[in-house]
Amino acid sequence: MNTKIYASLKSIASFVPNRNVSNKDLEKIVDTSDDWITKRTGIEGRYFAEDNQKSSDLGFEAAKIAIHRANIKATDVDMIICATLSPDYLAMPSTATIISYKLGIENKPAFDISSACSGFIYLLSIAKAYIESGMYDNILIIGAEKTSSVLDFRDRNTCVLFGDGAGAAVIGKTNEIKKAIVDVHISANGKYANLLMTPMDSPFIKMKGNEVFKLAVKTLANDVEEILKKNNIKPKDIDFFIPHQANLRIINAVGNMVDIDSSKIVLTVQKYGNTSAASIPMAIDEIYRERKLKNGDLLLLDAFGGGLTWGSSLLYFNGS
Ligand code: ACO
Repeated sequence: MNTKIYASLKSIASFVPNRNVSNKDLEKIVDTSDDWITKRTGIEGRYFAEDNQKSSDLGFEAAKIAIHRANIKATDVDMIICATLSPDYLAMPSTATIISYKLGIENKPAFDISSACSGFIYLLSIAKAYIESGMYDNILIIGAEKTSSVLDFRDRNTCVLFGDGAGAAVIGKTNEIKKAIVDVHISANGKYANLLMTPMDSPFIKMKGNEVFKLAVKTLANDVEEILKKNNIKPKDIDFFIPHQANLRIINAVGNMVDIDSSKIVLTVQKYGNTSAASIPMAIDEIYRERKLKNGDLLLLDAFGGGLTWGSSLLYFNGS
């Protein structure tokens, strides 16, 4: 009898660069205030990479830890995928290939995906499909962002919102559904492409924040309700709700609409700002490092970003 193979989250890790930038620091370079940023977004500070640090450097540091925590060697990794909106190079080579080489991995597939802040959920979906098809045993997924390299520090609408960092995970396999990535839902609608983009004539993020805000709340609340219902899981069964960390008001609105106990909502946006594709793995690692996250805990993830893209996932943590 064939036993079913499920994909499984075997480890989690993150890396944050050293340079802390407070809202007060930003007051000195753009017409903003600590009060506005804190009230409208919840963000109190963020970390920026040094000039000579690229997304691949941040991703490499997180990936090393993720591989170690999964109790495998770098050479056991069958494929490397990186989600980023701030790649080392404009079109090629991919940031994933740079990270894989830094890890000592050669002759294995490596590629980037472009789904902005929904990147980590898209990565989970891709890794799950490859593992459950039986094609690969271990996939390294990384969200690595030097968002400061795509921010216009003259545009107060965007530059105060983002931060740099990286998160990584090893997706392996299991035969037990209670250790598995139970479900991943991803979606997109290019009709809203102009609300959040880096235009061809400028390297910087442009966003119609208020319109994105309204779409994010509505779409995420529906998406989260749908994935819970489809899998017959009640909000009270969730151990941790780990949303993309863009804005405290979006997170709280979705949490209220879905009736998730606020004590289960993981919040890191105050400390790190919006780290795009890195924000969810960084937030999972935050509770891992605080020793709150235990093997067998059921996690609910959601994300929303440029594209527009969005997604959610229900998964058991299977790390140690
Ligand atoms: N400091 C001071 N004032 C500011 C700043 C600032 N940094 N930025 C904007 N303002 C002003 C505006 O000019 C405007 O002034 P006006 O009323 O005189 O015109 C006022 O504040 C209100 O602006 P809004 O854009 O309406 O403010 P809002 O409450 O919507 O908050 C924010 C803006 C924080 C961007 C919010 O809309 C948001 O979080 N949007 C969603 C972001 C998101 O989730 N993005 C998806 C992920 S990101 C990705 O994929 C890359």
